[in-house]
Amino acid sequence: MYKVLYRKYRPQVFSDVVGQPQVTVTLKNELMRGRAAHAYLFTGSRGTGKTTCARILARAVNCLHPVDGDPCGECEVCRGLEDGSMMDVVEIDAASNNGVESVRSIVEESVFTPAGAKYRVYIIDEVHMLSGAAFNALLKTLEEPPAHVIFILATTEVHKLLPTILSRCQRFDFRRIDPELMAARLMEVAGLEGAELDHDAALLIARVADGALRDALSLLDQCLGRDRHVTPDIVYAAAGLASREYLGRLAEAAAAWDPAAALGIIDRLHRESKDLSRLCAELAEYFRGLMLCKIMRDPGPLLQASGEEERELRRLSGAMGLGTVLRGLDLLENALNRLRGGDQRVQLEMAMVRLCSPELDTTPESLISRIEALESGIALQRVSEPVAVKEEGFTAEPEPPEAVPEAEPEPGPKEPEAPKAAAPAPRARRAEGEPGLEELIAGAQRFGAWPDILRQLGTDSKSVAMAFEGSSAYVSGDYMLIDAPEIAFELLKKADQRARLREAITRVTGRPYKLGPYRKPKSDVKEDPIDELMRRARAAGVPVEEE
Ligand SMILES: Nc1ncnc2c1ncn2[C@@H]1O[C@H](COP(=O)(O)OP(=O)(O)OP(=O)(O)O)[C@@H](O)[C@H]1O
Ligand SMILES: [Mg+2]
Ligand SMILES: [Zn+2]
Repeated sequence: MYKVLYRKYRPQVFSDVVGQPQVTVTLKNELMRGRAAHAYLFTGSRGTGKTTCARILARAVNCLHPVDGDPCGECEVCRGLEDGSMMDVVEIDAASNNGVESVRSIVEESVFTPAGAKYRVYIIDEVHMLSGAAFNALLKTLEEPPAHVIFILATTEVHKLLPTILSRCQRFDFRRIDPELMAARLMEVAGLEGAELDHDAALLIARVADGALRDALSLLDQCLGRDRHVTPDIVYAAAGLASREYLGRLAEAAAAWDPAAALGIIDRLHRESKDLSRLCAELAEYFRGLMLCKIMRDPGPLLQASGEEERELRRLSGAMGLGTVLRGLDLLENALNRLRGGDQRVQLEMAMVRLCSPELDTTPESLISRIEALESGIALQRVSEPVAVKEEGFTAEPEPPEAVPEAEPEPGPKEPEAPKAAAPAPRARRAEGEPGLEELIAGAQRFGAWPDILRQLGTDSKSVAMAFEGSSAYVSGDYMLIDAPEIAFELLKKADQRARLREAITRVTGRPYKLGPYRKPKSDVKEDPIDELMRRARAAGVPVEEE
């Protein structure tokens, strides 16, 4: 029977888990020192290795001859757990078993010693799905688990867990997997399958999968179903409309008033037998995203887009007026209704041509779009060229992927070419590049739950929390701007302290923020705002330690 790739290539040891050293290395070290905790919490986005690591951990704590913290895979316990003859590792899927009954039975049976292994391990997957009553039933056992019991809770939605659960578990955060690492793993798997995978194609798969290795392996599976030699075109075909790139390009065509580009893209997708009414629906959804980005400071929760998608939407929304976006949404919704009847292709083409040609249109909406374009000097150049125009300059520069939080800020976007819709563009030009700290501060709102974050921080280190005494914080877009005594910023000069603060912020807010100072910078703000602040601290005579 055919086994899907992501099952077939589920790592059996920590060393084979890709891109999660903060989990695997730490766990191996602790296990080597014989320090198993009684409750673990594995969190992070989907398909990044939580269940995989939970299973490895369950075997590693029980293995008779562990190898550097990894299970040996050969002893009777490893084998017994693998083939299911030993029942001391129990997996519960809370998504399908969210009743209090199932937890009660765990709690009841947990008092008995394990049958064959050292520990009885309960893996509770999707633990956020447990009902309130079930949580409560679990809490007591979590609080004082019998010595032979280990809980491993896994969830994608850690913000849904009660603080009482969080505080009882040793927590590990799984990151979206870096595209290069993911591509390397995909090439490895393709090789093991005796197939060929182009590096470009592997990277494309990694991008579409957006950090989830399971999704990447599924897509690779589909690609291999088409051809044993996977090229980028095979990936496009297999991914169907998943390539949001086309949506972005169609929207760029609208922003650049470039109907020819739009028709070229539609032609390509049509030739690839894409479902055009689905494309239209996705494009309408994309324009909704643009609309949200135009009118909301933090559209994140409504968008349900990945970080990269959100940045892309913000970038484009900065280049379009709200009127244009609304008009696009309207046109696409209308086209969608008509698509269900007549010739799909013609309907979609007409909508796109109208969308890309406001000058043809005399409706008030189109007039508004045209005025907006004149006013803000919309300056999108040709489609497919990245464009760097921001209307409000509010949009925060993309934070590097979660996997590399300490990375340098990305270099500024390219200089746009001569505007196609030629109009003076003073605002747009001023807003090029990264958002200024000033702009961030101007748009900041006081963040009420800051004391909660300090409390979180205090559980790690009292002295760090004390350095923040009397501080407050403000939220602006992706940034958490901190108003604190210099001593606090001095601490934040250290990457690990910044990481700890970010971690506390993520725990409390359920989303990551970048950090910045809540003060006016003296000049250039293109650097990490913390560095800027450090310089000021130095200037003020505060001794600041280099990293
Ligand atoms: N970090 C990783 N290293 C190697 N393979 C991985 C990794 N993450 C995921 N995979 C692959 O994806 C499959 C699914 O991973 P896993 O079930 O561990 O994800 P998960 O984080 O539990 O996802 P979910 O949140 O959806 O439950 C694995 O069988 C494996 O093939
Ligand atoms: Mg899982
Ligand atoms: Zn073993």
